[in-house]
Amino acid sequence: MKRIAVFTSGGDAPGMNASIRAVVRGGLHHGVEIFGIIRGYNGMIKGDIIPLNSQSVSNIIQRGGTILKSARSKEFMTPEGRKKAYDQLKSHGIEGLVAIGGNGTFTGAEIFYNEFQIPTVGVPGTIDNDLYGTDFTVGYDTAVNTALDAIDKIRDTADSHDRIFFIEVMGRDSGYIAIQSGISGGAESILIPEERQTVEDVVETLKSGFNKKKTSSIVIVAEGDEEGNAAVIADRIKQTIDVPVDIRVTNLGHIQRGGSPSAADRILASRLGLGALEGLLDGHKNEMAGIVNDELIYTPFHDTITKKKIINTDLLRLAGILSK
Ligand code: F6P
Repeated sequence: MKRIAVFTSGGDAPGMNASIRAVVRGGLHHGVEIFGIIRGYNGMIKGDIIPLNSQSVSNIIQRGGTILKSARSKEFMTPEGRKKAYDQLKSHGIEGLVAIGGNGTFTGAEIFYNEFQIPTVGVPGTIDNDLYGTDFTVGYDTAVNTALDAIDKIRDTADSHDRIFFIEVMGRDSGYIAIQSGISGGAESILIPEERQTVEDVVETLKSGFNKKKTSSIVIVAEGDEEGNAAVIADRIKQTIDVPVDIRVTNLGHIQRGGSPSAADRILASRLGLGALEGLLDGHKNEMAGIVNDELIYTPFHDTITKKKIINTDLLRLAGILSK
């Protein structure tokens, strides 16, 4: 394989640039030409494909976002869009792909591989940490620390004003960011989609805090929680709780997607970027590179998309005991 293209797709994540850098520098090491596709599958369809060299990726390991830009492509979901993308790759002489992204990216990659057999290896890049086949995804550690920094700051003002804060964190269908930032931020309650807690459970927790003379509390809500978003839950609790409380809601939103990647994310991204490239050169295809128990492994895209990564819900028990 002499020409490989790399692209980022779906929600961006801190550390994607470190992965791009690893693919490019790894390509140089192995004598392979590396191209970058701009704006994910949309750029593939349009032929927005540029050569990358060592200088193209200098001074980016510390930068958040993605120098290749990202998009969620509707056109690639159609057979016509994918055919255009294939034609563009062929005309640029691309023989293999490194796809950096999450669930949606690998769903597209699998369909594309089945139709056109262009070998593709993925790098798990999403703040959600929701991909089967890797202990951690690129961007997750940074996002947790960004959320934690915000939680610490909110706790200061919550304490000054004797308030309960409901803080919503990202995680489309997963509670990873919520559970990590909630435990490390000493949250009184953490709501995640993987384990149902009712509004009544939260009221009980808050009331028992009141009885122990707690004057402020933090409730972390994962955006995908079944009970609703933080605003909805806060509203229901206001109506249910029979003690006078001042409640505020903060949605941390896209701040969690930005910022300079943590050391852990830079290293993970570098290992996985090189792992994906070398995997392609070794004949891996239609698979995602991941790190499990500190070992590089390859998992079929199909499994990364369809199998559920199991969150350790015992951490909720820990949070419950420690926040009392
Ligand atoms: O998948 C990453 C993520 O940040 C999710 O946590 C969130 O639900 C979603 O992307 C937001 O997507 P968008 O930036 O398109 O609004």
